[in-house]
Amino acid sequence: MPASGPNDKFTNMISLHLRKPFAKGGNRLCFVHPDNRGMCIKVARPGFSPAEKRSRKGFPKNLKPLNRFDDSQIEHEVLSTIHAELGDEVLDLIPRSYGMVETDMGPGIVTNLVTDEDHQISITLLQYLWENGLDAPIQKSLDQFYPAWQSLAVPSRDLLLHNIVVQQTSLEAGDEKQCRLIVIDGLGWSDMIPLARFFKGLAHVKAGRKIKNMKGRVTSLLEAKQSGGSWGIHGFIDPKKRIIS
Ligand SMILES: Nc1ncnc2c1ncn2[C@@H]1O[C@H](COP(=O)(O)OP(=O)(O)OP(=O)(O)O)[C@@H](O)[C@H]1O
Ligand SMILES: [Mg+2]
Repeated sequence: MPASGPNDKFTNMISLHLRKPFAKGGNRLCFVHPDNRGMCIKVARPGFSPAEKRSRKGFPKNLKPLNRFDDSQIEHEVLSTIHAELGDEVLDLIPRSYGMVETDMGPGIVTNLVTDEDHQISITLLQYLWENGLDAPIQKSLDQFYPAWQSLAVPSRDLLLHNIVVQQTSLEAGDEKQCRLIVIDGLGWSDMIPLARFFKGLAHVKAGRKIKNMKGRVTSLLEAKQSGGSWGIHGFIDPKKRIIS
C-alpha cells in the first residue's frame, strides 16, 4: 500500500508525493498512475503551480483566470477537443485524456502511458536519435508521421523532439523493430483567435509548417551530436526510471 499524503485522509486524493516521477519537463512531473500502471499522471512541478506562474506574469497577462495557467487542465481540454474534432484516427498520433484528478501535488491530468513492447516507458525522439542516430526503423516512422500529421492537420505549437515519444515494438531478437511516434505535449491552437480551428485549409498549411520545422530540428540534433554538441536540458529518461515497478 502506498503511504498516504498529509491531505488525503478524508478524500480520494491520489498520493504522489512519496513516489518518484519517471520524467520531468520544464513545467511538470510525470508519474505512473499508482492505481493503473497503463496510465500517466502529470502534475505541475513545485514552483510551477498555476498561482505561482500567474504571479510571475506582468500586466495584462496576470489578469487571465487562474485555470489558464494550469498546463494540465489546458492539456486535458486540448486533447479532448482534438479527439472530438479529428476522430479516433488522431489517437495514433497523440495520447487520450482520461480527465483531471486531485493529487496531493495539485491537480493532474491522466493520459495513457506510452510504453514499448517490453513494457518499459518509451523514450523521447530526442533521446532515440541521440542514442541510435537516424536508423531504418526511426526513418520509417518519421516517413509515416510527417504526412499523417499534415493530412490530419493536428493543431500544435512547435513540434519539439523532447515532446514526442517513440513507441518501440517487436523487440524480440530477429524481429524487425518498428517505431511509432506520439506527440505528448505542445498540442493545441496557439493564436488568440484560433482561425486554423475553423478553416481547414489554414490548419493544413500550419501543420505543414510545423513538420518542416521538425525536419530541421531532426537535422540540427544529428549535426549537434556529430560535432560533439549537447542535446539540451530535458528529454532524457534515466534507464532505471523506464521500468514500471
Ligand atoms: N503519456 C506519456 N507516456 C510516456 N512518457 C511521457 C508521457 N507524457 C510525458 N512523458 C515523458 O515526460 C516528459 C515530460 O512531459 P511533458 O513534456 O508533458 O512535460 P512538460 O513539463 O509539460 O514539458 P515542457 O518542458 O515541454 O513544458 C516527456 O519528455 C516524456 O519523456
Ligand atoms: Mg514537454
